[in-house]
Amino acid sequence: MRIDKFLSNMGIATRTESSKAARQGGILVNGVAVKKADVHIDPEKDVVTYLGRKIEYRKYTYILMNKPDGVVSATEDGRDKTVIDLLPEELQKLNLFPCGRLDKHTLGLVMLTDDGDLAHRLLSPKHHVKKKYYFESKFPLTEDEISYLEKGATLEDGYVTKPSQISLFDDKKSGYITLVEGKYHQIKRMLESVNNKITYLERVTFGPLSLDTSLGRGEWRFLSKEEIELLEAHK
Ligand code: URA
Repeated sequence: MRIDKFLSNMGIATRTESSKAARQGGILVNGVAVKKADVHIDPEKDVVTYLGRKIEYRKYTYILMNKPDGVVSATEDGRDKTVIDLLPEELQKLNLFPCGRLDKHTLGLVMLTDDGDLAHRLLSPKHHVKKKYYFESKFPLTEDEISYLEKGATLEDGYVTKPSQISLFDDKKSGYITLVEGKYHQIKRMLESVNNKITYLERVTFGPLSLDTSLGRGEWRFLSKEEIELLEAHK
């Protein structure tokens, strides 16, 4: 793999930054400075240092995105912009996919990766990964409705939702809901089961990950090593 591709995939430097760093002697391979960033390395064996920092190789890429309105969480869509379209070209070439879907008009935390095993584990119903959403509803929710939704709501197709947790703000029309599953349009359908309607929905956590408030809508960053370890440890 080319060293500039390696550094870009690891989220360390863009190709332009790598070229500049290489010209200035800032990239070492096994302790020896390379003059150009197009040198090929074996990421599993070679030790790469970028501006004095040893770069650990990770086979997969993990990204946290703040999904904006109107973008679909899919890898391709004939009509709408996808979360993949929001990434730079270099990352679009990797086989990244969103780990779980948000509706087109739901905002907030989406994790993207090319680590199929991890995604499979996190999405499997067995693992009960918690997802917390901030929501606003058209009408206030009553205590009875809250306890019904929390215990398990019967959706229009007869499915009974797993227990959830809801905390409301004083207006009773906004709050947080935490789910351990992710059925199609689940929160919208849960609110519909009590003759109400979601007017705003934003995911704020996914398992151990929290939406990074420094990310604007449509912005993204690589997950930190600690965040990846937390996801991997999530059993
Ligand atoms: N529930 C919904 O209705 N929509 C989402 O995007 C996520 C959960």
